[in-house]
Amino acid sequence: MESIGVLLVGRVMPYLEQELDKRFKLFRVWDYPNPAQLPSQHVAAIRAVVGSSSAGADAALIEALPKLEIVSSFSVGVDKIDQEKCREKGIRVTNTPDVLTDEVADLTIGLILALLRRICECDRYVRSGQWKHGNYKLTTKFSGKTVGIIGLGRIGQAIAKRAEGFQCPISYYSRTEKQDSKYKYYPSVVELASNCDILVVACALTEETHHIINREVINALGPKGYLINIGRGKHVDEPELVSALVEGRLGGAGLDVFENEPAVPEELFGLENVVLLPHVGSATVETRTAMADLVLGNLEAHFLGKPLLTPLV
Ligand code: DGY
Repeated sequence: MESIGVLLVGRVMPYLEQELDKRFKLFRVWDYPNPAQLPSQHVAAIRAVVGSSSAGADAALIEALPKLEIVSSFSVGVDKIDQEKCREKGIRVTNTPDVLTDEVADLTIGLILALLRRICECDRYVRSGQWKHGNYKLTTKFSGKTVGIIGLGRIGQAIAKRAEGFQCPISYYSRTEKQDSKYKYYPSVVELASNCDILVVACALTEETHHIINREVINALGPKGYLINIGRGKHVDEPELVSALVEGRLGGAGLDVFENEPAVPEELFGLENVVLLPHVGSATVETRTAMADLVLGNLEAHFLGKPLLTPLV
């Protein structure tokens, strides 16, 4: 397979980059001053694109690669891939579902606990030597709080399961009610937000879910409510979120993702009621390695004419 060209468009863990380099003819998009003008001999060799949660294949890239057969994303979210265009051109698409479900759900609970129990702030308090001047202020209990989840897919369900362990009543919003679900369904995000303490965004980013968290939802969640986003930054109208936090219209937010990451609104840095993470939902050695193996397995299956491991398109 050494002659098969693979274009890497997203930053991935070194293990995956090295394996791609060993097994294929690897091109890295950042090696070109203008990716739209890849040298023609490279363009002719490229039969696969490997992306990530932050970079995929849009219509322009797909059109620019006439030999493209497969786009494999080192992520479960595929909002950076023009799936319609791939379908139209018969290009296969794969992602990395299942292997990261536990990790993202674990981190969600971590974010909730960090936010409500102010774990990061407590750590800063101890490190800065303030403890000797008195005790730290009281925080907020998590057990028993109502958790509202947007999107009851694999990750949403794994979060619900974990939150149940904290005796939290669970409710959810999704496009349609899940007949087999024991959790309370709300037909709108505003109703869900009005009836929960902690609102968790766990759905895929699509045109429909872009800015699903808007001013109305934030106001419905209110000054005692908490927003947790482990989905995509673009689920949230970020300027609205920032003003709600600054004005005290929202209790707090735990954010693993941002609208224009790695850029983070500076107003958030001075707030105590936010926990900010650098998009690390799946970032453990175990899970990222499993994701990398899925990317490699999908590419090899495709080029050997075998069924894809995790086909999307
Ligand atoms: C994904 O795989 O889409 C996640 O966002 C990675 O953390």
